Amino acid sequence: MFLVEGYQASEVPPHVDLERASPSRVYDYLIGGGCNFAVDRQWAEQAIKRMPWIRAAARSNRAFLRRAVRMCAEEGVRQFLDLGSGIPTILSVHEMAWQVDRDCRVVYVDNERVAVAHSELTLAGIEGADIIEADMCDVDRVLGDPVCQRLLDLDRPIALLATASLYYIPDAELAARTVDRYLDAVPSGSYLVLSHATLGQDRRDAMKLSRVLEMTHSLTSAATARTPEWIAGLLAGLELVQPGLVYTSFWRPESLRAQDDTPWHDAMLAAVGRKP
Ligand SMILES: C[S@@+](CC[C@H](N)C(=O)[O-])C[C@H]1O[C@@H](n2cnc3c(N)ncnc32)[C@H](O)[C@@H]1O
Repeated sequence: MFLVEGYQASEVPPHVDLERASPSRVYDYLIGGGCNFAVDRQWAEQAIKRMPWIRAAARSNRAFLRRAVRMCAEEGVRQFLDLGSGIPTILSVHEMAWQVDRDCRVVYVDNERVAVAHSELTLAGIEGADIIEADMCDVDRVLGDPVCQRLLDLDRPIALLATASLYYIPDAELAARTVDRYLDAVPSGSYLVLSHATLGQDRRDAMKLSRVLEMTHSLTSAATARTPEWIAGLLAGLELVQPGLVYTSFWRPESLRAQDDTPWHDAMLAAVGRKP
């Protein structure tokens, strides 16, 4: 770990920008993780002032990811490719999958140095899970990486995880093409687990989320919300798993939610699709 306050500054990995907040570290702070710097916490606190439900939204996304990984593993998938994996401080995907079967294999992909460095530390000496530092849009580079080749068998079903990450790709066409290319590379019986920011139908709350998204221009990557129609388009050609495309906390919830009257406070739509 390399938190600047509370950790040794000398432990901060090289090439990590301490002056600028980053998506993975801000998200880590929001979900209650311990791998973030003062600059990330200040950014997050400003965002919370503009949109007080942002922390709950981040946690709801992470909880959706956990439920979806579990579902895929229970359906027999034993391989996971996590695109834009972030910092695994709060229950990593391999730990989620291993709750179903210790034989599950997980390849993480992230293009942020600190997320990769933290994952390398966490995964050191662990069999069956590893990380690739790459832009997920470079599909050939990811699939051709020795880590992918060692851990994943592209002839057997794979769960592609693209949660809270595609909205950091500013070019919508590139984001959609990237998803298509991964889906083309995996066999029938594979899954796409997806969550993506969307503004929601309440104008005042949408304005608040828009202001937070504007703030992301000061991060190392900026985020973009997209329409439910665009997000649904990513699932075209897949069998949509019930309950379909819904706000994150409405995807197979484990308990009744208190705030059903403001579902858009999740800020992200989520879905799981199966490749026929
Ligand atoms: C908000 S975190 C989401 C983490 C995790 N997927 C989840 O849902 O809990 C977004 C992550 O996507 C990564 N990311 C953004 N654009 C990326 C890209 N083009 N290639 C790889 N990773 C990317 C960021 O570095 C960050 O770690």
